[in-house]
Amino acid sequence: MIVLGIETTCDETAAAVVERADDGGGKILSNIVLSQVGEHAEFGGVVPEIAARAHVEALDHVVAEAMNQAGRSYSELDGVAAAAGPGLIGGVIVGLTTAKAIALVNKKPLVAINHLEAHALTARLTDNIPFPFCLFLASGGHTQIVAVRGIGDYVRLATTMDDAIGEAFDKTAKMLGLGYPGGPEVERLAATGDPQRFALPRPMQGRPDPNFSLSGLKTAVRLEAEKIAPLSERDIADLCASFQQAVVDTVFDRLRMGVRTFRIKYGTPSALVAAGGVAANQAIRKALSRVAMEAGTELVAPPLELCTDNGAMIAWAGAERLALGLTDELDVAPRARWPLDEVAAANAPRRTAAYK
Ligand code: KG4
Ligand code: ZN
Repeated sequence: MIVLGIETTCDETAAAVVERADDGGGKILSNIVLSQVGEHAEFGGVVPEIAARAHVEALDHVVAEAMNQAGRSYSELDGVAAAAGPGLIGGVIVGLTTAKAIALVNKKPLVAINHLEAHALTARLTDNIPFPFCLFLASGGHTQIVAVRGIGDYVRLATTMDDAIGEAFDKTAKMLGLGYPGGPEVERLAATGDPQRFALPRPMQGRPDPNFSLSGLKTAVRLEAEKIAPLSERDIADLCASFQQAVVDTVFDRLRMGVRTFRIKYGTPSALVAAGGVAANQAIRKALSRVAMEAGTELVAPPLELCTDNGAMIAWAGAERLALGLTDELDVAPRARWPLDEVAAANAPRRTAAYK
């Protein structure tokens, strides 16, 4: 089964062609990602209007390149998948409309994919892991612990009460005068800093529910920085290290609680799966390995380019759905908001909730 996937929910214009074998094995035939980071950098974050326009300009070329590199023609596709949300609505409209046009012209089934579902299923593309598994999804927009029980069968065990982890990295970086996106910059500087120098809070630590809260930590960094301003390079490195250590301790504590909750409800997970841009952070990965080992399971973290937004994960989720005969009508609506636990395996209610 061969599927084209399109991703335009944030600041990556991406398309890929993926093949799914009958035994469930996955193969990426092409995976083109055009990052808009340069266009948003001067604003310190993603500007929705700029993102939507950039998707319009780039998407046709990115799709053509994905088909070209895969060496396949449209007639050889078994389906066309696009992220239909959640995300910045202007970009989602561009990707979904393009997918609809390709599906219509080539008489192929359309699969409207929830972007979070695609992150969740990536570990099945790379490692062919069985259900149920415990997903830790941490990106610029999301921080969730999810029980992935089957295609379309997701139970959210935890979320953040305020900022996402990636957002906390980005805001901290901005506050310290570092570049965007902030995560990689903070990680780089943290390696040279002293994680003990500033006593920062570990929000929610010890709470029996596995939820997150990050905004207090970010404020604590700001207060420490204001106390010692103007900041030297050493101060900045120490603040990065202390901030990252607080996040790592928090992730360890919250995931431990999340996996515990998972085990009580569904038994030992087949794996702890890390997804989203934050999973690129080596210190966070180490903490997740410890959680997995303690729980008698293994950590599966897809390679970096498949952790961050890409078209292969959308194509793969499309292939998994197609294999079950789950497709969408051509009037399926794009959605800015679309919680993962609303993604039912049956696709009946998907057309109704437009632009929410
Ligand atoms: O999944 P992603 O590429 O895009 C979405 O937000 O959907 O994640 C991007 C986020 C940004 O907030 C970025 O700062 C964060 O992931 N990030 C990191 C690292 N690399 C990327 N955070 C911490 N450490 C990193 N090495
Ligand atoms: Zn994402």
